Amino acid sequence: MKIKKICCIGAGYVGGPTMSVIASQCPEIQVTVVDLSKERIDLWNHSDLDKLPVYEPGLKELVAKTRGKNLFFSTEIDTAIDEAEMIFISVNTPTKTYGKGKGQAADLKNIELCARNIAKVAKTNKIVVEKSTLPVRTAQAIKSILDNTGNGVDFEILSNPEFLAEGTAVDDLLNADRVLIGGAETPKGQAAKDALSSIYENWLPKDRILQTNVWSSELSKLVANAFLAQRVSSINSISALCEKTDANVAEVSRAIGYDSRIGSKFLNSSVGFGGSCFQKDILNLVYIAQSYGLQEVADYWEQVIIMNDYQKRRFAENIVTTLYNTVSGKKIVFYGWAFKKDTNDTRESAAIYVADALLDEKAEIVVYDPKVPEAQVYADLDYLGTRSPEENRRLLKVVNDPMEASKKAHAIAILTEWDEFKAYDWKSIYENMLKPAFIFDGRRLLEKEIMEAIGFDYYKIGQS
Ligand code: UDX
Ligand code: UDX
Repeated sequence: MKIKKICCIGAGYVGGPTMSVIASQCPEIQVTVVDLSKERIDLWNHSDLDKLPVYEPGLKELVAKTRGKNLFFSTEIDTAIDEAEMIFISVNTPTKTYGKGKGQAADLKNIELCARNIAKVAKTNKIVVEKSTLPVRTAQAIKSILDNTGNGVDFEILSNPEFLAEGTAVDDLLNADRVLIGGAETPKGQAAKDALSSIYENWLPKDRILQTNVWSSELSKLVANAFLAQRVSSINSISALCEKTDANVAEVSRAIGYDSRIGSKFLNSSVGFGGSCFQKDILNLVYIAQSYGLQEVADYWEQVIIMNDYQKRRFAENIVTTLYNTVSGKKIVFYGWAFKKDTNDTRESAAIYVADALLDEKAEIVVYDPKVPEAQVYADLDYLGTRSPEENRRLLKVVNDPMEASKKAHAIAILTEWDEFKAYDWKSIYENMLKPAFIFDGRRLLEKEIMEAIGFDYYKIGQS
């Protein structure tokens, strides 16, 4: 079966870049990305490509090349579903904030809404592809909704989890290590898997496209993120030990990473991992393990999150202790708010939690991030509900000029590893600041010797 029309529900961080890459690599396929949010779709259609709702290196070039030709962004969800042979679901699946599984399980409300909508609209057979990260066995629920409420047409459900990382999404899609396609082990299931596989084969070698059953595919996504996050928590646990023992965490990472069995990636100690996926997916894994009575398995993975929370708390506490046990009324400048460099995404960013802890101590925080707008910073803090929106705005300011921000600051905390921070004129920053001038480097971005030679009191995660 050759796919000619694709619909993707959800024009977010996953849906937007993924569909842009498919459209650019498969000119003969018409791709329509739909979303409930008119505002988001309008931004995807904006004539100024710098206004796209997702910032990813290389993305605007792809959109420029394909938009209006074979890539369309629309709010006409029903029409797009009706016309497509293959429908990707890439709506968000946040951690539940209510009811059973609150704080752990994934909220599948959006997924179910999508399934019911597809069932209502579809008049021809459809292949439905789960792109969103979902708990293992969700495909069964989707299938049941589609089969029981549909118009008697045939639905094949595939799981095709996304492994792109933000900031490198386009490259991760174009040069994927692997693509995973899970589907039913039946002739129809096989045909659906092959149809999806043939789309990826337009730009990826066939041996990188792995086919599995649906459940392995769903679970593998959670496990991949859990393993990656576990590496970060593991090295962060060691960073605390390094700070006490005069070992240097970078040297430890390098020493162990050279062992090809361990490998060198994801061993950078930091102020803690963030992002929309790691915490959510591990919580989800923990919840699933618990719901099958596997308490030891649940506890094992939960520790990855406990360690991450500890790392963020430890960073904030070190700032307070070092600034003579009080930050009340002191100006602390945050360089970076995004959860990592090269993205405007702030979901679960360590910066939010470090700010919250310091605001509790009545610090005055000034935030500079090259990509994150003011409104987002406040939205992140307000969402925590720790203090009133007015108080958040009184105690924390967001600015556009990093040099200006450093004037009369007591300390600078580096929360995101933006490259531009390395190139700053740190001598001038030092002169701008109150003395002693402190830097707390949560990303191990700067050179200790150079900073100390300028005159800074410089603290780096994982180094005494
Ligand atoms: C994705 C995945 O889908 C999620 O499962 C994964 O774990 C993280 O990444 P993401 O693309 O980052 O989510 O989410 P987001 O940027 O919030 O985009 C989702 C879009 O879906 C939003 O634009 C939202 O408006 C839209 N949506 C949501 C719908 O169109 N319909 C719905 O019913 C719900
Ligand atoms: C992750 C997975 O990498 C991707 O495959 C999956 O599809 C979605 O989740 P993402 O959240 O975009 O991608 O970013 P990632 O690069 O994995 O970083 C996650 C967090 O870990 C960031 O806060 C990052 O700064 C932190 N990190 C990563 C470290 O602190 N140290 C490292 O060595 C690597």
